[in-house]
Amino acid sequence: MLIFSIETSCDETAIAILEFKKNGDFEVLANQISSQIKIHAEWGGIVPNLAAREHAKNLLPVIQQTLKEANLDLKQIDLFSVTQGPGLIPALLLGTNVAKTLSYFYQKPLIGVHHIEGHIYSNFINKNQGSVRKSRNTLLSKVQGKTEQPNEVYSRINRARNEGFDKEICQNCSSFEFPILNLVVSGGHTQLILMKNHLQYEIIGETQDDAVGEAYDKVAKILGFEYPGGPIISAQATEAEKMVKNKTINKKYLEIKFPRPMLQNPNLNFSFSGLKTAVLYFYQKLEKENHTKEEWTIWNKFIAKAFQDAVVDVLKNKTLKAIKKHNPKTVLLSGGVSANNKILETLKKELKITYPKIVFNSPEKSLCGDNAVMIGVAGIARYLYSKNKKTFQTNWKDLEASSSLKLKDLN
Ligand code: KG4
Ligand code: ZN
Repeated sequence: MLIFSIETSCDETAIAILEFKKNGDFEVLANQISSQIKIHAEWGGIVPNLAAREHAKNLLPVIQQTLKEANLDLKQIDLFSVTQGPGLIPALLLGTNVAKTLSYFYQKPLIGVHHIEGHIYSNFINKNQGSVRKSRNTLLSKVQGKTEQPNEVYSRINRARNEGFDKEICQNCSSFEFPILNLVVSGGHTQLILMKNHLQYEIIGETQDDAVGEAYDKVAKILGFEYPGGPIISAQATEAEKMVKNKTINKKYLEIKFPRPMLQNPNLNFSFSGLKTAVLYFYQKLEKENHTKEEWTIWNKFIAKAFQDAVVDVLKNKTLKAIKKHNPKTVLLSGGVSANNKILETLKKELKITYPKIVFNSPEKSLCGDNAVMIGVAGIARYLYSKNKKTFQTNWKDLEASSSLKLKDLN
């Protein structure tokens, strides 16, 4: 069974084709991402109408490129899957309308996927059995034909009990036992989501203001770095850590400490806007003093480190609190910020020590950010487990993109 998936919720035009096999394995046949980051960076953040214009320009050529990569024709596709929301509505509308047109034209079912469940299901691709093809292209004009064979990638959606696709075959899960606790950290979301089974999502904690990725991006802006700032702040913090190890550093840089918002609060919610403001005030205070260019480069690194330390502390402690309360068998990290090594390694280490029986996983690095492979995997999960399968046949006319789609709207 071939599933064709589309993701256009933000600034990436992403298309993928997965093959879901009878034995329950699946393989990524093509994975194309055309990123608009450079265009939006000039504006310091995502401009929705600009994003829509770029999606409109890029969608059909990226589809063509994806089919070429998989060496397939659209009429061979069995199932279409698309991000229905949440996200920027002008951007979502483009992806969903292309998906609806394809579903109508080829008379094949269409599945609407929640962007966050896509991130969650990106964990179900087994990292140990090959790496997902990377075909990240900054601008479409750079998308060139590729002829090499894709690597085989298997998901944890494997070990079919039965031959039929409609049976309970999603044993992926043989290694990811429920309940699963998800920590989703992206540019738009910071949530703790408990899953007692497939497609059953209970949000047990979330940010009251900024998302983690948003805070990284805003702090980067304060320090004068480009959008998106997450990877830059992360790299700056790593450099500060190296300097600490080499013991070459003046004590004043080590004394920066930012607040850990809501850490002591017994609930599982987060808040990052105060942390970002604390960074701003600290920076403004420094600006009033006299610092050389060289000193500024060091201040930036240590501000980034102190900010990241606060974020990591909050994420770790809230996750531990959620584990204590809900007793999950598995903890999955996901979302664009899950590419952050410090967050990943801290959680991994902490769980190994405190809860050695819990299975912890994070997505393959190339699948942490927005991509269409995750929309295909979540589409397969919906295809197997959704209670509303009938809608897949009529979605070509009924599916509605929603900027504020809730996870529960899709069950
Ligand atoms: O999931 P994603 O690609 O898009 C949304 O759904 O929002 O996440 C993008 C976010 C951006 O805020 C970006 O700065 C952040 O993920 N990010 C990182 C890292 N890589 C990406 N944040 C911290 N450390 C990173 N290494
Ligand atoms: Zn995302």
